[in-house]
Amino acid sequence: MRALESPDADRAVAAATAMRDALGELTDREQVAERLLAASDRHSFDPDTDLDWDAPLEEGKWFLPERLVSLYDTPLWERMSEQQRIELSRHEAASLAGAGIWFEIILMQLLTRHIYDLDPTSRHVRYALTEMADECRHSKMFARLIQKLGTPVYRPTGLTHFLGRVLKTVATTPGAFTATLLVEEILDQMQRQTFPDETIQPLVRGVTRIHVVEESRHVRYAREELRRQMTDCPAWERHWTRLSSGEAAVVIARSLISPRVYAEVGLNPKVALEQARSSEHRRATLQWSAQRLTTFLDEIGVLAGPATRAWRRSGLLA
Ligand SMILES: [Fe+2]
Ligand SMILES: [Fe+2]
Repeated sequence: MRALESPDADRAVAAATAMRDALGELTDREQVAERLLAASDRHSFDPDTDLDWDAPLEEGKWFLPERLVSLYDTPLWERMSEQQRIELSRHEAASLAGAGIWFEIILMQLLTRHIYDLDPTSRHVRYALTEMADECRHSKMFARLIQKLGTPVYRPTGLTHFLGRVLKTVATTPGAFTATLLVEEILDQMQRQTFPDETIQPLVRGVTRIHVVEESRHVRYAREELRRQMTDCPAWERHWTRLSSGEAAVVIARSLISPRVYAEVGLNPKVALEQARSSEHRRATLQWSAQRLTTFLDEIGVLAGPATRAWRRSGLLA
């Protein structure tokens, strides 16, 4: 009660009222961007200086929470030593970071295309540029993490790499924001389990904490824009967004963990991939990671019609 009466609380209430009055004049799109710009001012990081990159990795600590490792709870997992399991978590953390960079680079291009025709002095464009600056720092941070983990650089190859090129070149605006949310929300759910976990390497906790804080703004921006786009866009675009989102879900779900990680820790890649794909626990984990997203996409009409078959095929939807 006392806190509510303090001068600090008075100032906070006055600032909130002033912001509300100022925002009253703005469109919904500009109001969202204004709030996100203010939050970015208050709470942004420089991973190069905010993380201790020189500290050695700690013996016996995981790189990913155990239950998020793709083989957890499979017959193969039961036969693996603790050391081998931790080693697999190291390679899977590097694979997730590699997929993160792949998609952030796609996203930067999608955002550039989105703002190309818009008023550069609008808050909506200023926020898009702020988000691109965040993603530049994130991709450098993930690249530095991969180097520190000492694993191969896992990147989507072949057809997946090519489909990423198609997406960033021809995606419609609602399609672009749907794909953005697909990657951001799935990684976000996993990272929210990672940074508070004391069994995890401190550097990985630091990286995931920074990412969760900054990505929560990106998710808000993409959700609000996608909601507007799905209401305003022509029917063919709505239809196309549904279809392409299902196919994007299949590609993205498969590209999170590179099948190459299994051979790196001495497992038979064919057997390991098979067991990961047929694992009930893995299926439940993927569905849990996408649940917030699929609920939202269902609400705004992206998850509808024949596209839901592809979503089920991706393993992200029950
Ligand atoms: Fe990011
Ligand atoms: Fe992001």
